[in-house]
Amino acid sequence: MRDCHQEIARWMEPLRAQVRVDAAGNFRGFYPAARPNAPRLLIGSHLDTVPNAGAYDGILGVVLAVSLLEELHGRRLPFGIEVVGFSEEEGVRFGTPFIGSCALVGRLDRELLDVQDAQGISVRKAIEEFGLNPEEIPQTELENDTLGYLEFHIEQGPVLEKLNLPLAAVEAIAGQSRLEFTFLGRGNHAGTTPMHLRRDAMAGAAQWIGTAERVAQGVPGLIATVGKIEAKPGAANVIAAEARLTLDVRHSSDEIRTRAVTDLIRQAQEIAIRRGLSVRESTLLSQRAVAMDPFLTGEIEQAILKTGYKPHRMVSGAGHDAMILVEKVPTAMIFLRTPGGISHDPAESVAGEDIEKAIQCGLYLLDQLASSPEFQERIRRA
Ligand code: GLV
Ligand code: MN
Ligand code: MN
Repeated sequence: MRDCHQEIARWMEPLRAQVRVDAAGNFRGFYPAARPNAPRLLIGSHLDTVPNAGAYDGILGVVLAVSLLEELHGRRLPFGIEVVGFSEEEGVRFGTPFIGSCALVGRLDRELLDVQDAQGISVRKAIEEFGLNPEEIPQTELENDTLGYLEFHIEQGPVLEKLNLPLAAVEAIAGQSRLEFTFLGRGNHAGTTPMHLRRDAMAGAAQWIGTAERVAQGVPGLIATVGKIEAKPGAANVIAAEARLTLDVRHSSDEIRTRAVTDLIRQAQEIAIRRGLSVRESTLLSQRAVAMDPFLTGEIEQAILKTGYKPHRMVSGAGHDAMILVEKVPTAMIFLRTPGGISHDPAESVAGEDIEKAIQCGLYLLDQLASSPEFQERIRRA
């Protein structure tokens, strides 16, 4: 991550931007406005990835923000632009996503700082080990001079490819819940313990995984994923004493999502009781579905139209830092077509021409905002 920050800082040197890494490990590069003390527009995405990731999820949005500034060729706008590269969006290390963006909205609190990774290292400790000061996190909070947040991101699904369109405006982002479940049984010898005398934590977890899949299949639009499982002690000839797994549940309706989570917790308990196990769960995230800013989204549609394409509006099933920033500032997203709809995999890609279209669209958007009476009013009020 340090190398990544240095590389982006190097790209931004010719822009004479002011770069820094904030106390939550987010890269920040500020390109000043035409006049001093003008408010700023944030543009960015995240720099972390999932394991065995593709090259574009997140980072493309940061690179695009820098490219947009390059394409201004030194021109200053009535507002400053701050490039943001968020530090921990995916939630791989700590199980909890959006840590970097939570800092900007004042939600990187004591509880979140105490969350630990698999090695028992807390978020607070990780921040310190990176050479940053967690006491300075309150200073990362957005100031009143922030006009909004704009995020370019690959769609990570097949919709735009099917429609033969390079870009889309995102109108909303589905809510998501992330939990960790631990089934506890009795470790024992795999060769000598008859099947009817076992309290196998792994078998209980497996039954519940099948239940989660069936529950989601039965509700239109509901997504439930168990992406990670870990058994202890973890040997072929030992019945698992413990099985720890993750659950990720999403839906555009918060009510349907939270009802599904409650149902799956109840079913885990029933399975555990039937098998002589116990189960405990902890909720790492319950993030509501959010709508993007209607004004900015309308402007994005106009900008897409100017690039020569029909502006398509869509809901994002993937989570983004935008769903956190929207709590504090007007927020909008632009999706780029994802070949094959493949993401969170090394085969993830994006077409060079689509990136060109995204940069064109971004430039149209910045010019529209610079001359829009509504946005000028927002600049005056900020
Ligand atoms: C972020 O990639 C997500 O899990 O939606
Ligand atoms: Mn991702
Ligand atoms: Mn992403």
